[in-house]
Parts: sequence; structure tokens; C-alpha cells
Amino acid sequence: MKTIIEPFRIKSVEPIRLTTREERAELIAAAHYNLFNLNANDVIIDVLTDSGTSAMSAAQWGGLMEGDESYAGSPSYYRFEAAVRELMPFDHIIPTHQGRAAERILMGIVADGDAHIPNNTHFDTTRANIEATGATAVDLVIAEGKDPASQHPFKGNMDVAALQDFLEAHHAQVPIVMLTITNNSGGGQPVSLANIKAVKAVCEDFGVPLIIDACRFAENAYFIKLREDGYADWDVADIVREMFAYADGMTMSAKKDALVNIGGWLALNDDRWAEEARNQLILTEGFPTYGGLAGRDLEAIAQGLKEIVREEYLAYRLASTRYLGEALVEMGVPVVEPIGGHAVYIDAKGLLPHIPPLQYPGQALAVELYLTGGIRGCEIGSVMFGKQPDGSEQPAAMELVRLAIPRRVYTQSHVDYVIECFEDIVERTDELPGYTITHEPRQLRHFTAHFAPVA
Ligand code: F0G
Repeated sequence: MKTIIEPFRIKSVEPIRLTTREERAELIAAAHYNLFNLNANDVIIDVLTDSGTSAMSAAQWGGLMEGDESYAGSPSYYRFEAAVRELMPFDHIIPTHQGRAAERILMGIVADGDAHIPNNTHFDTTRANIEATGATAVDLVIAEGKDPASQHPFKGNMDVAALQDFLEAHHAQVPIVMLTITNNSGGGQPVSLANIKAVKAVCEDFGVPLIIDACRFAENAYFIKLREDGYADWDVADIVREMFAYADGMTMSAKKDALVNIGGWLALNDDRWAEEARNQLILTEGFPTYGGLAGRDLEAIAQGLKEIVREEYLAYRLASTRYLGEALVEMGVPVVEPIGGHAVYIDAKGLLPHIPPLQYPGQALAVELYLTGGIRGCEIGSVMFGKQPDGSEQPAAMELVRLAIPRRVYTQSHVDYVIECFEDIVERTDELPGYTITHEPRQLRHFTAHFAPVA
């Protein structure tokens, strides 16, 4: 059959409170036009993030009851460790409460003021954890990865020649090289196995370990199966094992491709780094067999890892994101193409050319999506990146709005509703106002800034 269905039935539901445009106009004004300030009860379709928002399966909820809460040596830890090692056979697997905790511990060990750490594109928490040590985060994604219209099948790939040049010039200051799969900041775009192998080969030449930021590893593996020559007949789990065979470690946010609401881990092969990481873990996260999580959380991760590599799930997952993206393309809404795994990224500058970048076209679209349909997306443009360290403002490279799809949460009719809202908005884009910032904090202003529409 051609129809790709949600490969699950729904046994437990959460009501959605439906609001009117008039109510939403009041709510968003009271939230100072910042979608992060809304009470989630006032959101109809919440596509702010795919992180920690997955629906857990009956088996995962069952696993919660099996959780063993022993301070040390919990059997839940051993089930977690075995489930991770089944896919990612690293020597040391260290649980953390989420991805950024793994990043902070790793950077505390490997980075210092002189260090330079390349990646295809660092996610903001990774970049922030590198910069917090005084080190420099370097993005070396291929040129196609920065072009929203390029149809390259693996736009998350690292520019291997640029990495080679960079290591020739700076290898003494490069403690690790990273690869983010899929490349979230670049539009949820995958990295090919050929690229992983080529990056590893360059790293080996210079004796630098390769660490994978693995949040969306299963979506990446399925893209490899669909798009890369030679893998069509492979099991997804085997592709995953192949991807990690070239890495020396990983950081993970289990809130994405482990289908849980909280959790993460750091995995390493280096015994010395692992010992230091466990010491750091005890200081700030917890004993190494729970690392800031409850035993029940570890059970849910162990089960989630079994479910995430099932092909019928991944076929549905990529199809449902593509379904939204392709409908927008058909309508003439400019989006980052090809459609990524976890989210659709709308080019708000292309859609709202009358709004100058420093009147935040992404914010304008995000607010209008809320007003029109109670949809909450996330601006990724000059609100997020425009503020410079010296206090000045520069337009960001792109003005995007990300609609990130929670895993197993929304059905096709929810997505059809989002599409219908866009059909309404595209008829009146020239009426949408730009925004000014009326109040902002010193750092990470997008979370708490206040806005007002430009008259
Ligand atoms: N790396 C990537 C690629 C991510 O997308 C995220 C989180 C992290 C690391 C940090 O993980 O949140 O568990 O500490 N991304 C979320 C998002 C927040 O909305 O894209 P965390």
C-alpha cells in the first residue's frame, strides 16, 4: 500500500484546548509576543521542539514500573548500558540528565582557552559549552549545507577538505572533532556514511578523536538507507552500528531519538577521559550508574532505543515531516530543502520580503502562526543570532521558523490543520507587521525578550 500510516494506536490522550483568534490575540500580547512566554495550555499545535516531547510507548510506561532506584549498581543502569552498547559499542557509557550535561562534562575535560573544536555545525548548547571554557567552536559544513535551496542529499556533511586544511594549520589545538547527526542548526540534514568515514580518516591522520553529537542518529541512519548507495538492504540497526564504528565517543540527548522525556549520555573509548568524566559526573550529576536520572528513566531509554530503529517507525517519521514540508513547497512557501528528519524550516525572509531582517521576519511569521491557528514554532534568525558580543546587531545568515515535530504525538489531521493555516496566511503575507524588541536580557535573548509589532 502507498499510504504510510502511523504505526501505532493511541491508548492515552491529552486534550487540546481550542482557542479563538481573539483569545490568542490577547494571550500573545500578554506574552509580549514571545512564544516562549505562553502557557502551553494555550497552544493548539506545539511544534516548538521535538526535544523531550515524544509520546512514550506502553512498553516504556511499563518499564517505568520496573525502574530500580538503587543509588549504586541499579539493574536499570545495566539494561540501559546494554541497550546503548547494542547500537553504539563504546567502552564507557555514562548517563547524564540531558545532552548538554554530557557536552559540559566532555568540554570540561578536553577544551581550554587555546582549543578549537570543529563540527559540521555546532548546536547552540554545544557551542556555548565550548565557549564557556574559553575555547573556539568552528563550523565546517559543506557549502550546500548553507544554501536553503540546494537539493544535496547529505547537506549535513562536513567539508572534508576544509577540515584537512584546518587540522594542518591548528591540529595541536584541536582536542576533538565533532559531527552532529542530523545537523539540527543546518535544517535537520543528514550526514552520509561516506562522509563519516572520510572525516574519521582525516582525524586519524592527525591523531584527533572523533565525537558524534548523536541526538537524531536513527533518522540519520534511515536517510542513509534511503539515499546512500549500498545501504538499501541494510538493517537500520546495522547502519547505526556502522556509523558509530568510526567514532571515538558520543554525546547524546535521549530527549530526541531515544523517545523519552528526559535523559542523555556521554560515551567514550578513552579510559582516562572516562575516569575524569565519571569524577565530574559525581560532582554535578550523580553516581555513574544513574547520572542525574532516576532508574525508571534509564528503563524508558533502554526500551526507546529498541523502538527507534524499527523501520516502520522511521518510514512514518520521515514521511510525516516530508508531508508537511512538501505541502508548503507546493503552496509556494519557501522552505529548507530537502525536508529534514525532525522539522520543517521555513524561510521567513523569502516569504515576507517586505519585513527587514532587523524587524525579524521569523518572529513575524511565528506570531502570525500562533494568531491564525494556535501553532507554536520557533524563530531561528536575527532574534536568536542577531545580537553580537559587542552589543551591536547584525542580521543572521537566514531568517527561519522551525516547526519541529514531536515524535508519535500528532496525527495527519493535525498536520493538515497546520497546512490549512499556511494557506490562509499566504493570502495576506503583505499585511503582516515586523517587530521591535522592547526589552531583552544580556544573553540568549530569544527565550525572554519582549516584542511589539511595528505600526
Ligand atoms: N545537540 C543537538 C544537535 C541538539 O539538537 C540538542 C537539543 C542538544 C545537543 C542538547 O540536548 O536539550 O538534551 O540538552 N536540541 C533541542 C532542540 C533543545 O529544540 O533542537 P539537550
